[in-house]
Amino acid sequence: MGRNSNSKRPSSNSWDAVANWYLGWSGAEGSRHHRELAIPALTSLLAPRSGERILDIGCGAGALAPAVARLGAHYTGIDKSPKLIAHARRHHKGGVRFLVGDATRLSAVAPLAVNSFDAAAFLLSIQDIDPLDAAFAGAAWALVPGGRLALLMTHPCFRIPRQSGWGWDEARSLQYRRIDRYLTPLDIPMQEYGKAKRGTTRSYHRPLEAYAAALNANGFAIEAIREIPAAPSGSPEGETRAKRLARQEFPLFLALCAAKCR
Ligand SMILES: C[S@@+](CC[C@H](N)C(=O)[O-])C[C@H]1O[C@@H](n2cnc3c(N)ncnc32)[C@H](O)[C@@H]1O
Repeated sequence: MGRNSNSKRPSSNSWDAVANWYLGWSGAEGSRHHRELAIPALTSLLAPRSGERILDIGCGAGALAPAVARLGAHYTGIDKSPKLIAHARRHHKGGVRFLVGDATRLSAVAPLAVNSFDAAAFLLSIQDIDPLDAAFAGAAWALVPGGRLALLMTHPCFRIPRQSGWGWDEARSLQYRRIDRYLTPLDIPMQEYGKAKRGTTRSYHRPLEAYAAALNANGFAIEAIREIPAAPSGSPEGETRAKRLARQEFPLFLALCAAKCR
């Protein structure tokens, strides 16, 4: 189980150690979840326009880059993992650039400049970045006044690693979602790496109110929220009624967009 997290520690670079595993799962174009759900949802909230400058924070191998570049916007991805950035540079070309940098110290990442992006995104990265406040402060620093911030994460109310899961109610023939902990922020070990499994990547669970409070503290006003159910794992015809109901009632992702208003 994870530790309580109210962390002031600088974030680790554990994703570099699992870069090959992550690339095997997601590739530079993103996993099935990315392609079918996450990228379309985030792109519709971010609404990149031709000529705009878009910053993708915690970009990994740049799964969001093609969707942004296709709309004629200028894409910059930053990530702490040099291996994922090297892969992104090899894979994505034309109208895109990738930088190694720490999202919690964005103003130290050359050649980024204050007030220089029209919109910023966290695609499945905000839950892996700590501290949260520094990540939003960085986004606020990078955005022009009125700039847009869009983020998409696994739903913090229903998909808490190690603290939530599916159960089966025999009497009512229904699949339920069980939540063991929610309000306490947690620092949760995830993917193990190293010969003796000496380290793990971390995921940071925070209740929804922590996201709203950190956005507000950094001058953002939330404008829209979307809760996105998972796609069926196989053919929709092969899905039982109970599984379909549970899938449709308990969203996999939460996405939101906010405007920098001060
Ligand atoms: C689940 S991956 C998502 C990557 C990519 N956005 C995607 O959807 O494929 C989380 C990413 O967050 C990055 N990350 C975690 N902490 C970071 C930090 N402090 N600064 C920059 N990137 C960070 C990791 O290196 C990793 O690439």
